[in-house]
Amino acid sequence: MKNKTSPSNLGAVVSVRGSVVDIRFDAHLPPIYSLLHAKAGEIAIEVLAQLDAHRVRGIALTPTQGLVRGSAVEDTGGQLKVPVGKGILSRMFDVFGNAIDRQAAPADVQWRTVHRAPPALVRRSTKSEIFETGIKVIDVLVPLERGGKAGLFGGAGVGKTVLLTEMIHNMIEHQKGVSIFCGIGERCREGEELYRDMKAAGVLPNMVMVFGQMNEPPGNRFRVGLAALTMAEYFRDDEHRDVLLLIDNIFRFIQAGMEVSGLMGQMPSRLGYQPTMGTELSGLEERIANTDTGAITSIQAVYVPADDLTDPAAVHTFSHLSTSIVLSRKRASEGLYPAIDLLQSSSKMATPGIVGERHYLLAQQIRRTLAQYQDLKDIIAMLGLEQLAPEDRKVVARARRLERFLTQPFFATEQFSGIKGKIVSIKDSLDGCERILRDEFKDYPESALYMIGAIDEAQEKVKAGKPVDNVKRDSKAGAGNDPKPVAGTTPKPKPEPQAKSEPQPKPEAEHAAADAHES
Ligand SMILES: Nc1ncnc2c1ncn2[C@@H]1O[C@H](COP(=O)(O)OP(=O)(O)O)[C@@H](O)[C@H]1O
Ligand SMILES: [Mg+2]
Repeated sequence: MKNKTSPSNLGAVVSVRGSVVDIRFDAHLPPIYSLLHAKAGEIAIEVLAQLDAHRVRGIALTPTQGLVRGSAVEDTGGQLKVPVGKGILSRMFDVFGNAIDRQAAPADVQWRTVHRAPPALVRRSTKSEIFETGIKVIDVLVPLERGGKAGLFGGAGVGKTVLLTEMIHNMIEHQKGVSIFCGIGERCREGEELYRDMKAAGVLPNMVMVFGQMNEPPGNRFRVGLAALTMAEYFRDDEHRDVLLLIDNIFRFIQAGMEVSGLMGQMPSRLGYQPTMGTELSGLEERIANTDTGAITSIQAVYVPADDLTDPAAVHTFSHLSTSIVLSRKRASEGLYPAIDLLQSSSKMATPGIVGERHYLLAQQIRRTLAQYQDLKDIIAMLGLEQLAPEDRKVVARARRLERFLTQPFFATEQFSGIKGKIVSIKDSLDGCERILRDEFKDYPESALYMIGAIDEAQEKVKAGKPVDNVKRDSKAGAGNDPKPVAGTTPKPKPEPQAKSEPQPKPEAEHAAADAHES
């Protein structure tokens, strides 16, 4: 095994309860975080408590099948270690630093313990710079920070993984540094698919992947994040490179900690979470820091149990992030992907000093328009759109067009949406929003703005006389049970019940095109 064994300190198993193993050492009690091996290194156990003068309690990082009372356990004399060095690039590892890509173990590497302290306050640096993603809605309204931490919050199946994959795709080619992907407690299939995608895209040479997926025992999932971080810190501190650290999913880290805590017999705290959740999470998050030598930018998917943003796990995670992107099931069900709930999402970068006056004012105006539309929705549902003041009706038209324009076709979903992915520059995104707010597109059908890149594509779409779905909207109004986009068809946003009473945009292609010339 990679973690060197020193056979001098031998112990014997006293009890095994699932992943929790008590071991008796007569000669020397191993310190906390020591790595122990049983069955010739097949079973790895990390010491988490010293129970008395002779017994320690540890959590297994591997399944404990076959371990019995009296089994010999040897103290490796060290902690859990992972390989670092140039040799780990383009490789895939598990929590022990074993290569899992069916290739030989990496040569020319050092082994470092995964338990490390965050950088001291004096070594930290901040530079407030935007990290462009090429995704319209993110760059305009919730810009990411270079060297910051961004979270993608959402319940199951609202598009966290898709959005994360899209960001990897868009950024990795421009990113001069190294990217590290860490899969914690998610599906194994997703890890394998990502590896193949990255290989096909040719970006593997600057990437490292570390996985502890949902088939692993809790101890393993609890430590795999630290393993990835240790590699990230190596590139930052030793090679002075910028690192992009992607984690899917940080909630699974908290959840693994909860399982470990329960197994260790600690009293649960609120909603069954471990009493030490805050410390454990900050132990990980604080290590994701920028220093004078390099920056670690991290994007983390955060599963939100039962779509409840007040869940303690989500609340704790929020406080560590500079950008919080909240995905909403409602928008996803309307086909408005990426399903970002703009009124719940926020970024500390969205200030005039950082993004510039024009961008800031525009973002404010977009938010205001969307918020007004949100407020008007109840009235529209009760009284219909005709009852609104003409000014309010304009707000609704603008907001609906903005919502459509802020959708975007993704490279990550090309196979099943059939639409080619698009990267849009901040400038094009801002121009588009500005022109919609100036009502330049008020006579365009809403669908012309749906799933396009830059705003000019709306004109092309109308000229081509493509999707004008007004008739369908009438017949389906009030149904409220639209299916998700089906493979091979162009997904349409769900018509809201009030759509029937809305003044219909002129469907004729010539008309809209003529308007376009005027404007
Ligand atoms: N941008 C998108 N465009 C089209 N479909 C999407 C998009 N994002 C998510 N989906 C749909 O939602 C499904 C679940 O997304 P996924 O990212 O796996 O969810 P999560 O990771 O949040 O559980 C995808 O398989 C896809 O069908
Ligand atoms: Mg996912």
